[in-house]
Amino acid sequence: MRKSDWKDRMNALLKKKGWDIKDWHRATGLNQWQLESLMEMDLSEMNEEDLESIYEQAKKAKLDKNLMRFDCPVMIAVWAHKGGMGKSTVVTNLSYELAKRGYNVLAIDTDSQSDMTSVLFPDYLEQPDISFYNGFLGQEDFREEGYIMHTEYTGIDVVAGSAESEALEGSLCTMTEKIRNKMWKKCLRSIREENYYDFIIVDMDKTAGKMNKTILDEADYVLAPIESSMFGIKAVPPTLAQIEEMAESNPKLKLLGFLFNKVDLRKKTAMADNTSLVEQIAPEYTFQTFIKNDANVDNSQKEHMPIGYYNSRSPASRQMAELADEALERIRKDQKERRG
Ligand SMILES: Nc1ncnc2c1ncn2[C@@H]1O[C@H](COP(=O)(O)OP(=O)(O)O)[C@@H](O)[C@H]1O
Ligand SMILES: [Mg+2]
Repeated sequence: MRKSDWKDRMNALLKKKGWDIKDWHRATGLNQWQLESLMEMDLSEMNEEDLESIYEQAKKAKLDKNLMRFDCPVMIAVWAHKGGMGKSTVVTNLSYELAKRGYNVLAIDTDSQSDMTSVLFPDYLEQPDISFYNGFLGQEDFREEGYIMHTEYTGIDVVAGSAESEALEGSLCTMTEKIRNKMWKKCLRSIREENYYDFIIVDMDKTAGKMNKTILDEADYVLAPIESSMFGIKAVPPTLAQIEEMAESNPKLKLLGFLFNKVDLRKKTAMADNTSLVEQIAPEYTFQTFIKNDANVDNSQKEHMPIGYYNSRSPASRQMAELADEALERIRKDQKERRG
């Protein structure tokens, strides 16, 4: 009896709270896609107690009004013109932290190393035909054609990477610019229309080739992890120059910031020197947050887990959380400015 009117009661509760399903997800921490399918499916097979507990949970839950809403998923390209600086580490852990706060994140792995995929979606090896490579090259709609994988973490979905991505650069070189410019638009068409994801976070390799240019041509922000070392700092000018070059075709692209990663606190003076160097080259673009060199990072990756899940009290885990908050504040400020 109670089961038969559950959807009506649930809809009435949502209406009373002024919530849509995204708000319901944000307030309760339940997966939005699961809530959506619950409201559409036949409930006869469902356990009545489970349904009632979902209802009660929603009734008690409070929505954090500070969470942002966007007209379209915000696309963050994690890129720096040098390898090994922590791009995949940042994509993995920033995705985790944003999802923990209630945002829906789609992490896309365009790198042939597939490091991010191996952590967030370790099952990907079983599904080699539905990787980013096939979807992007075939210019398929990622949503319609099933390229999106749900991970075991609430709020994080993944488009998996594969070793074949290595061949993308060559393929893109044989295409006209006009075709290349349309590829992401085709792949993201339904995703943008639905506006289910708040963030699309893209893992990339270190190059400034055609593939990465197609990403920078679509993205809203670049987040650039760098090491606090001479070689790390050397990556700053070319990263900035590349972003500037993209401005012509993608005027909305902005640098979200340089993030110092793998910081060794025993080298305090070097860190201070390097920070002020980057400040001189790119004023106001250094994140206050830095990520310490922490063995937990590598250990969490060995266990195929985001660090916040593996050991939420480790230094790098706390700093990834701070990074997420600082990045969100920067985005909030920038979106305000954009709206004028
Ligand atoms: N804060 C950190 N502390 C310790 N090791 C780190 C940290 N960040 C990244 N690493 C390690 O450095 C290596 C390169 O990081 P990765 O994220 O793969 O860089 P990229 O994607 O830029 O090539 C990985 O082995 C990773 O475990
Ligand atoms: Mg990487």
